[in-house]
Amino acid sequence: MKLHVQLAIVLSLWAVESRCVTAKTRLLSPVQLSLFYETYCPDCRHFMMNQLCPTWLRLEDIMNISLIPFGNAKEIQNGQNWQFVCQHEEDECQGNTIQACMIHYLKNATSYMPVICCMESASSPLTEAQRCLQAHAPTEVLWDTIKSCVNGSKGNELMHQNAQMTNELEPPHNYVPWILING
Ligand SMILES: *[C@@H]1O[C@H](CO)[C@@H](O)[C@H](O)[C@H]1NC(C)=O
Ligand SMILES: *[C@@H]1O[C@H](CO)[C@@H](O)[C@H](O)[C@H]1NC(C)=O
Ligand SMILES: *[C@@H]1O[C@H](CO)[C@@H](O)[C@H](O)[C@H]1NC(C)=O
Repeated sequence: MKLHVQLAIVLSLWAVESRCVTAKTRLLSPVQLSLFYETYCPDCRHFMMNQLCPTWLRLEDIMNISLIPFGNAKEIQNGQNWQFVCQHEEDECQGNTIQACMIHYLKNATSYMPVICCMESASSPLTEAQRCLQAHAPTEVLWDTIKSCVNGSKGNELMHQNAQMTNELEPPHNYVPWILING
């Protein structure tokens, strides 16, 4: 069975189950999927390209997605800012921050998923970032806005938030991609 079909079945079963449990008291709530990942990890890219993105195309209506790019990176406080050390080095730190900024400015998964799926399917997420943004969200946000976010205080703050969310995982993650379904 294709991997994205397996994921789609898992998510559908969760949705049906929560529908049964909650039907009497409130409307159907979507399946919450949180992905803790890093932009250059091959297994993350494989999961996104072959499972998450094709599933998203089919089941967007029953999914509430949270993407948290940070993964196995480390953060170090440096005055008022944070410095990051990434598993796949500086390109990955840049890629993570670009995606954190895209998620922030594009606001909802309907807008940012196609851009991020485009980047993660590319041979180099970093060099394709601008093309992916302009191809999939041509009017929502300018590349210049993302660029100044990435190397500015907003990008630093967003990555610090992602670091905190990752470090607060209970149980802690011990590899990436780390996938939570309904918590
Ligand atoms: C989606 O998840 C976020 C938390 O990640 C939550 O704040 C929001 O209420 C959820 N939306 C729905 C429709 O369940
Ligand atoms: C998602 O955000 C875009 C702007 O980035 C907006 O145009 C669109 O209406 C939003 N869609 C939903 C479902 O909130
Ligand atoms: C951020 O700054 C670094 C180092 O100066 C540079 O290599 C990189 O291209 C910049 N990133 C963006 C998105 O402009």
